Amino acid sequence: MRTTVGIIGAGPAGLLLARLLHNAGIDSVVLESRDRAYVEHRQRAGILEQGTVDVLRAAGAGERMDREGLRHDGIELRFARTRHRVDFPALTGGRSVMVYAQTEICKDLIALRLEEGGPLLFGAEALAVEGAEGDRPRVPFRYGGREDVLECDYVVGCDGFWGVARKAVPAALSRVFERTYPFAWLGVLADVPPSHDELVYARHDRGFALLSMRPPVTRRHPSEEVAALPIKSFVSRLYLQVPAGTDAQEWGDAEIWDELARRFETADDWTLSRGPITQKSVTPMRSFVHEPMRHGRLFLAGDAAHIVPPTGAKGLNLAVGDVVTFARALTHERRTGSAELLDAYSATCLRRIWQAERFSYDMTAMLHRAPDATGFDDRLQLARLRRIASGRAAETDLAEAYTGFSLD
Ligand code: APR
Ligand code: PHB
Repeated sequence: MRTTVGIIGAGPAGLLLARLLHNAGIDSVVLESRDRAYVEHRQRAGILEQGTVDVLRAAGAGERMDREGLRHDGIELRFARTRHRVDFPALTGGRSVMVYAQTEICKDLIALRLEEGGPLLFGAEALAVEGAEGDRPRVPFRYGGREDVLECDYVVGCDGFWGVARKAVPAALSRVFERTYPFAWLGVLADVPPSHDELVYARHDRGFALLSMRPPVTRRHPSEEVAALPIKSFVSRLYLQVPAGTDAQEWGDAEIWDELARRFETADDWTLSRGPITQKSVTPMRSFVHEPMRHGRLFLAGDAAHIVPPTGAKGLNLAVGDVVTFARALTHERRTGSAELLDAYSATCLRRIWQAERFSYDMTAMLHRAPDATGFDDRLQLARLRRIASGRAAETDLAEAYTGFSLD
């Protein structure tokens, strides 16, 4: 099998890249080791920066997002039983974010890809990347019990943190910068209207908590007579800081709601609405950057090259930034014959990535309680939060980073 760009992985990075290349008239093949249902149902974050929203729209993949997604103009910081709202448009010259789940973006992009004729191969596992230093890199892969080889001009490793692409960069040329955290997030989806209309990031002596949401799901009424009346189900997405290595099943539903209520407690009359929990999982937290993001004709994008802790909601947005940068660089090369943007790919992406690493680390450190935290650490966290709540400079810094830096 032969193509211009071999894409490993059909997460948001690989799927969006295939779309961007298709729109630019460049052919590609996407290899995805899992099946379609798995990719479409894997629960991930759901906050899109303004720049990500703009890219999806321009790629012709924003129609359902614009219909169902929720525009958010701020977040709430909650600490010491007080509440502080950060107003994004007022602080950033009009920028906002969109709440729209990553799974929905994947569904939209998969549908578009299959409509335009693919190729998108589910159940196709890339085994390695070979010959990245030469002109014709190859990806041997296993598909339907047979082994085959994808021959390409370029390979883009969009295969996530556990993929094979990163391993093709020789160890002598690789540098890894990494931090693991002694805590994780226990995340739940619950069939209950969110208790606040914006996200709430709470710092508490018992640990961090986050209130988020998914756009309401509209379903047809099960009874024939009232089928014309659609039912709107509201979905809350909530997270609790838990020790690293926690098993989600250790937590009973009532225990989760009690702990959330404690950590979100305010001095005013705000209350947390409870409802049936439909999904429970634990996300480990890690900061990770692999440099460089390019080796010869192999390019790394998204989680294959970098991970941020989810506190800043940056993971998906960084993946989008990488593939936009690659698609622009390849289009430039096709149009002008100059490889200057391809050569600059790693450095261009890493500038933005390190800003997001910095922001995600700072948000994590400000809001989580480490197991060995002292009273001094607690006082510093509160001082940081009070500085944001009372001074425009620190608050603007947060709002700019949260809504995202420009892709240009
Ligand atoms: N062959 C083919 N596919 C593979 C292989 C392989 N050897 N290894 C991994 N994959 C697939 C995975 O099954 C997965 O579907 O690559 C895909 C990688 O997708 P993601 O992990 O979603 O990574 P990415 O597209 O970079 O998206 C980044 O994911 O972790 C979140 O917060 C992060 O939102 C961000 C986003
Ligand atoms: C989510 O809704 O899943 C979410 C929101 C904000 C974050 C992380 C996750 O910072």
